[in-house]
Amino acid sequence: MSADPIKIVEVGPRDGLQNEKSIIPTETKIAFVDALSSSGLTEIEVSSFVSPKWVPQLADALEVFRGITRVPGVVYSALVPNEVGLDRAIEAKVDKFSVFTAASETFSQKNVGASIAETIKRFRPVLQRSPVPVRGYVSTAFYCPYEGKIEPNAVVPVIEDLLDIGCVEISIGDTIGKAIPEEVTRLLEVTLDICPVEKIAMHFHDTFGNAIANSSASERMGVRVFDSSAGGIGGCPFAPGATGNVSTTALVRLFEGRTGISLEKLEEAAKIVRPFLTR
Ligand code: HMG
Ligand code: MG
Repeated sequence: MSADPIKIVEVGPRDGLQNEKSIIPTETKIAFVDALSSSGLTEIEVSSFVSPKWVPQLADALEVFRGITRVPGVVYSALVPNEVGLDRAIEAKVDKFSVFTAASETFSQKNVGASIAETIKRFRPVLQRSPVPVRGYVSTAFYCPYEGKIEPNAVVPVIEDLLDIGCVEISIGDTIGKAIPEEVTRLLEVTLDICPVEKIAMHFHDTFGNAIANSSASERMGVRVFDSSAGGIGGCPFAPGATGNVSTTALVRLFEGRTGISLEKLEEAAKIVRPFLTR
């Protein structure tokens, strides 16, 4: 393995908490983000400016952003699905936005009530008006909970569209954690023909225990940015069977000496939310 630095994007406060049944108090979320901020992480996905009707757990996104203590050098990001979300995220002074779409039409409909093409249309004004850099997520890049296997030729055009509208980073999501390393390598081989590896992040869920092997396979292909959640919490409410993200601790251990993240501080942060988790 090379010794290049690895960047971990901590998505626990957003992807980790969005699927929790019990509502976690706003002050607990703030304490969680603040604890993560002192662990050496340089990017934390704090919440989502999505519809509170669709994801009630993250309805307090603005309050969480107002309550956290921002550490210089740490980027505090959030999901933004449309212009309504954009206005809310601007008000919250979010450092980086993430638009999100999918490689499966059925998942896109279930997740945001729109086709993939419609999501890209919604994102254009978001990108045009965004005062900060924007990441683009492609969910169900390997498997869809409704359509099954998704081939790379369905993923690549979505990545091209996200780059075309100005996304500075593409996060490729194994939403239901079903991919195996060979599939990861195959998708990256074709993706790297149209997208520089520096712009790629991998977003693995660990449903079948393959996330670490998949992270290693991605690293061998040159990827240096990985999404994960402290304590491996999480899952998407619109993807039946999706369990937690790969654990940040597991990635810090896999990429030992390359992340700058303290395992002790991570554990302290995870302890803050653990008592509130039902799963
Ligand atoms: P919609 O209901 O189709 O929206 O939702 P609409 O445009 O028809 O508006 C209906 C009402 O919602 C209106 O209010 C809007 O103002 C309001 P009303 O006039 O009825 O009073 N509204 C909003 N309110 C607050 N914030 C907003 C917003 N937008 C509209 N942003 C929408 C469309 C996209 C908003 C909805 O489908 C939604 O919020 N979906 C949430 C999906 C979600 O959060 N999924 C989980 C994240 S994705 C994921 O987990 C995968 C990932 O981790 C990667 C991976 O693992 O693969 C990223
Ligand atoms: Mg996810």
